[in-house]
Amino acid sequence: MAMVQERSSSTALGDFNALVEHLHSVIDTIASQVVNTIDTRDPSLVSDKPSTPASSELLSAFRKFTKLSDEFSSYATSPSEHLTAIAGAFYESTALNVVSELGIADLLGKERVPVNQLAKEANVDEGRLRHVMRMLANRQVFRETEYGSDVFMNNRMSSILLSSHEKNLKGFIGHWSDDGYRSADSTLKAFRPENANKSIFEVHHGMSLWDYFGRPEGVVARERGNRAMVGAEPILHGGLIYDYDWTKHGESATILDVGAGMGGAAIELTRKFPKLRIIMQDKPEVIESAKKFWETNAPECLPRVTMVPHNFFAPQPSQISQLPSPPKVYFLRFVLHDWFEDDCVKILKNIRDVIPSEEAGGRLYIAEILLDRDSDRFKYMVSAHMMNMTGALERKEGEFAEILKRSGFRIMNVHRNKGFISLIEAVPVEASKV
Ligand SMILES: C[S@@+](CC[C@H](N)C(=O)[O-])C[C@H]1O[C@@H](n2cnc3c(N)ncnc32)[C@H](O)[C@@H]1O
Repeated sequence: MAMVQERSSSTALGDFNALVEHLHSVIDTIASQVVNTIDTRDPSLVSDKPSTPASSELLSAFRKFTKLSDEFSSYATSPSEHLTAIAGAFYESTALNVVSELGIADLLGKERVPVNQLAKEANVDEGRLRHVMRMLANRQVFRETEYGSDVFMNNRMSSILLSSHEKNLKGFIGHWSDDGYRSADSTLKAFRPENANKSIFEVHHGMSLWDYFGRPEGVVARERGNRAMVGAEPILHGGLIYDYDWTKHGESATILDVGAGMGGAAIELTRKFPKLRIIMQDKPEVIESAKKFWETNAPECLPRVTMVPHNFFAPQPSQISQLPSPPKVYFLRFVLHDWFEDDCVKILKNIRDVIPSEEAGGRLYIAEILLDRDSDRFKYMVSAHMMNMTGALERKEGEFAEILKRSGFRIMNVHRNKGFISLIEAVPVEASKV
């Protein structure tokens, strides 16, 4: 096997200096952005209100920072510590799941509470809870009033574990650190060639995530999964909703949100664009939960939203094209990353069959993570979660181009929103040109 050529020490030093310089400039950008929002970013802030979305510049700089700082620390730490930190990362994950399940943030509320009282109220071992709280406080989740005081309080990070918080992350944490963690146990087994067409979840449970969600014993997991997408919303802010002018197809255009879930994207879109109309489609049981969710959380937007049960593997209902103003804009957020290529093509072909032509304004938007050389740890983690739960992975732009081509679309534009997810804008290709 050919060995990789050793680089000269001057090249290696040059690379390192360039990395340090890059890191400095990213830190400067972050600092200048954070300074503008320092009141809302105060780490000691406890709030059950959604925080102001970070600016696109801040999100973008932060993504770069996480990538560069990982690279930087690999110069500073030993291989053994580096690998051990990766191997042990699940301890932080399980600690977070424990405090989330125990409702520690709710027990704290806006008070400073000694750990012995917390342990009593949660009916758990005091020593273990103390350890978990201190470990998380060390990771900026909760705060110990003074190191060793044994008195803890919520802070800006732990605030989103409050059940009163509109964007509370409890569902997301359970979906990842409990449901995801459990099935990840079968990762190695799922890597065997005979399991290549199954998700890790399916190898573990003997059924797909969607079948599992449809069973009575899967209701908790399904609700967690649904809530996860709403909790994820602040992660996505700053890109999808704020970087893009969704009125460009008309102020009161109708967007058909396919596989809309609880409407995490639709809520933000209808709030930001006050005349936009949305049709949300998802499985019947999800639509039922979504209706309840909107009635409580966004009743003011409901008059502009229609929720319809629909299986995206079936042809679009004929009523869609018979509406007085049928939708020209189709939107899928975090749907295709759940499916292998052939299934993605089936979903998209059903849209291709009803979407108006490019000239008539037909547009397909796909909002997904796009993997590229700048992708940081977080994007790979999301991709690993998809591999676990549904079998698919996050994709590169070229992979989407291929799926779209097979489905009768072509990419018109890729909006690399600052922040986390990108938006692929595609148009139908005339049948004669496919
Ligand atoms: C990862 S979630 C994304 C939800 C939403 N688009 C968002 O970004 O918040 C994928 C969604 O696809 C829905 N889904 C799965 N299979 C479906 C099917 N056959 N027909 C319609 N929706 C389906 C799920 O119920 C889930 O809400």
